[in-house]
Amino acid sequence: MSCLEIRAAKAGDSAAITAVVKESWLSANKELLPGDSLGQLAHSPHLATMIAREWGHIHVAVVENVIIGAVGINPAGVIWMLYVLPGYQGCGAGSALYEAAIGALKQAGRRKALLEVLAANENAVAFYRSRGWVPEGRRTEHIPGFRFTAVRMGLALA
Ligand SMILES: CC(C)(COP(=O)(O)OP(=O)(O)OC[C@H]1O[C@@H](n2cnc3c(N)ncnc32)[C@H](O)[C@@H]1OP(=O)(O)O)[C@@H](O)C(=O)NCCC(=O)NCCS
Repeated sequence: MSCLEIRAAKAGDSAAITAVVKESWLSANKELLPGDSLGQLAHSPHLATMIAREWGHIHVAVVENVIIGAVGINPAGVIWMLYVLPGYQGCGAGSALYEAAIGALKQAGRRKALLEVLAANENAVAFYRSRGWVPEGRRTEHIPGFRFTAVRMGLALA
């Protein structure tokens, strides 16, 4: 991808990151959700609050001054989000964000990385499997209007 830049997020990036996550998540998972849940998620204030609080642990992918992807880690070694706008997928931005996250986890001294991904999101599960991640368990959760199974995955970093 031409002129792709990966950089640490700034506090002022929160709104743009929230928009990327919502669009990418809804696009990847829309078959899983009934229409009313889609509307609720699209307006959920929880995500924006979380991103505004966590911006110090987020990297963004930027093309021509526009944020087109984001990855977030936490101090427990969890990659808790990795999203690229649908129109920019398949061009290397996801891999570049992923490498930034793994680099940051290694630099922080983590020996293992963890994440959860929806079992039905086969693209994402394949993305992680091809990078050495191993499924370590599953959990099923039921929130109003939405029942989902998530796969827990782990990667040794040492
Ligand atoms: C998973 C995701 C972050 C990958 O980002 P990306 O920018 O498409 O990734 P890349 O371009 O670096 O390619 C990743 C892989 O997908 C393959 N790919 C090719 N075309 C693709 C396409 N149109 N869409 C998705 N992946 C494609 C690439 O060949 C590459 O294969 P590899 O894993 O064997 O190297 C992105 O698809 C995404 O945001 N998906 C929706 C949200 C999501 O599921 N997030 C992860 C769970 S939290």
